[in-house]
Amino acid sequence: MAEIPVEYNPWVDLLRPYEPGRPVEELARELGVAPQAVVKLASNENALGPSPAAVRALREAASRMHLYPDGSCFYLAQRIAQKLGVTSDWLVFGTGSNELIVLLGLVFLRPGVAAVMSEKSFLIYRLVTRMFGAEPIEVSMKGWTIDPGALQEAIGEDCRLVFIANPNNPTGTAVSRENLEAFLDRLPDHVLAVVDEAYVEFMPEGQAPDLISRMREGKMVCSLRTFSKIYGLAGLRIGYCVAPPPVASLLQRVRQPFNVSSVAQAAALAALEDQEHVRRTLQLVASERRYLESELRGLGMEYVRSVTNFMLVRTGNGLQTFAALQERHIIVRPMDVYGLPDFVRITIGTHEQNRRLISVLRDLPGGPGRRT
Ligand SMILES: Cc1ncc(COP(=O)(O)O)c(C=O)c1O
Repeated sequence: MAEIPVEYNPWVDLLRPYEPGRPVEELARELGVAPQAVVKLASNENALGPSPAAVRALREAASRMHLYPDGSCFYLAQRIAQKLGVTSDWLVFGTGSNELIVLLGLVFLRPGVAAVMSEKSFLIYRLVTRMFGAEPIEVSMKGWTIDPGALQEAIGEDCRLVFIANPNNPTGTAVSRENLEAFLDRLPDHVLAVVDEAYVEFMPEGQAPDLISRMREGKMVCSLRTFSKIYGLAGLRIGYCVAPPPVASLLQRVRQPFNVSSVAQAAALAALEDQEHVRRTLQLVASERRYLESELRGLGMEYVRSVTNFMLVRTGNGLQTFAALQERHIIVRPMDVYGLPDFVRITIGTHEQNRRLISVLRDLPGGPGRRT
């Protein structure tokens, strides 16, 4: 309980600030090295950096940054709507998909209602649910994969939202198209399914469920997308929600009028068109994932098979591995906060970065970790 004379919402006491992966600059300062010497493999960012076309568009848009942005993200909405085969009133933009999760909370959550989610899934779902005084209900997984059956069973009368990260962070796994579609078929009408597709572009072609068809059939489902991952624009903060227009219009009501900056809109529009950058990213992630899998197997380290640009790796003691790697200028994410104390999550980097990671892991004091 904070000691201030003003009464505040009691559920705020349940919240802990989200601890993101450490920024490169902070670690570089601490270690007394140049930021370029630090390899950050902690936040599932794009190893190739942003699309060069996006950088050019951002520079060009910078000369107009004295003007407020177009609050509706008009051109971006038009382009994405065209790509998805919907109209612009299906789309709501936010400062990263994170903001969309908060907007969903503003519309659907309050004390007395619940949101269902999987354990070992993106922590923000729980944080946002608590932020609105609602109850997060966390269900167990089937192995390393989200279990739609368990989510289904946990849905009660007071449930409003069910969160499914597909693919899931931090496990890197995806629910099969059939299982997710079957789950949506059985979803009761009083619940909105929020399918967080932050990493969907990394999934093999044809394996992602067709959510828009479900939305057209009247299913209460929406999809969250981001420019932070495959498009490499995490620092600009831009993402969007695809939802049936009545749901989208509720989200528009609680959105700040100028939430997404003009430079982010310009860069995102250019990044969408830069399919060469997307292709190169997919190619790098696929080949480097194979490289890391093979090297980790060689070191006798368990990992979870991932369809994304990151991997969950069992090193024996995640916090120790994190600290040891950090001393050697590599930042990964320890997984104790996800209830996985013997794991770290590693973003798939460039070949050079991954080679450095593997050579440091090999030489770690006490050996490379747990053997399978
Ligand atoms: C599953 C998942 N959803 C959403 C996000 C948030 O992305 P954004 O940068 O769009 O807020 C992340 C970021 O790591 C994520 O892993």
